[in-house]
Amino acid sequence: MKYLGSKTIETERLILKAQTMEEQYYLWSVLMIPEVNKYYLSIPKKFAEKLKDWDIQKGYYEEEMKHANDLDVFKWSVFLKDTDKCIGRVSCQEAKSDGYDVNDPSIRGVGWYIDPKYKGNGFGREAANAMMNYMFQECEIDKILSGAAIQNPASWLIFERFGFFRSDKTKMVEYTFCDELVEDYQYSLTKEMYFKNNKHIKKK
Ligand SMILES: CC(C)(COP(=O)(O)OP(=O)(O)OC[C@H]1O[C@@H](n2cnc3c(N)ncnc32)[C@H](O)[C@@H]1OP(=O)(O)O)[C@@H](O)C(=O)NCCC(=O)NCCS
Repeated sequence: MKYLGSKTIETERLILKAQTMEEQYYLWSVLMIPEVNKYYLSIPKKFAEKLKDWDIQKGYYEEEMKHANDLDVFKWSVFLKDTDKCIGRVSCQEAKSDGYDVNDPSIRGVGWYIDPKYKGNGFGREAANAMMNYMFQECEIDKILSGAAIQNPASWLIFERFGFFRSDKTKMVEYTFCDELVEDYQYSLTKEMYFKNNKHIKKK
């Protein structure tokens, strides 16, 4: 794969930009909304209390921001084009760091969240699609592996519409702020499937 980093990506209504510290407090406060973190955060439960404390989190974000423009970092803050208002975040990390048993950086996981104030306008799909197109077409990744709670159609519909394959096996996942294990659909999309689904796009 090509390590091109979190290059600015423009869509019809959005701009995806490499993260800066400026929007991190807002993004953290959105992440702390239960309907946002419920089926998104799977950080071990022992960190749950620390996650809720901005004074602790601020230090982690400051450290992370030092690498926001590194070429092996694929994480974007999502802004509305019209107003330059930040509304969410999308990311594409090594699948290994999402708990998949693979040791290949060109096999990636994905994540996304949008401020509930803006949900249901197709922004999640627009941002996620733009990121995944960029990762396949420009960064030439081999595969995306990801999961989504069965109870979270707003997320798994993004995978389905993009042409992901849904496995007939589900996975029980421990989400940070859920008391019980949650059943997730498992999705995958290879480079070959991506280019087959998007025949008008030429493989580099
Ligand atoms: C997942 C998320 C990013 C989607 O963003 P969004 O801007 O609200 O979603 P969109 O408007 O682009 O909708 C995506 C699809 O879900 C559908 N959808 C949206 N909200 C829905 C809901 N509450 N119930 C069922 N379907 C829903 C849309 O109709 C659309 O499907 P379509 O392709 O058939 O039209 C957003 O809901 C979110 O931040 N959720 C919390 C964080 C999270 O769960 N992240 C994913 C972890 S895997």
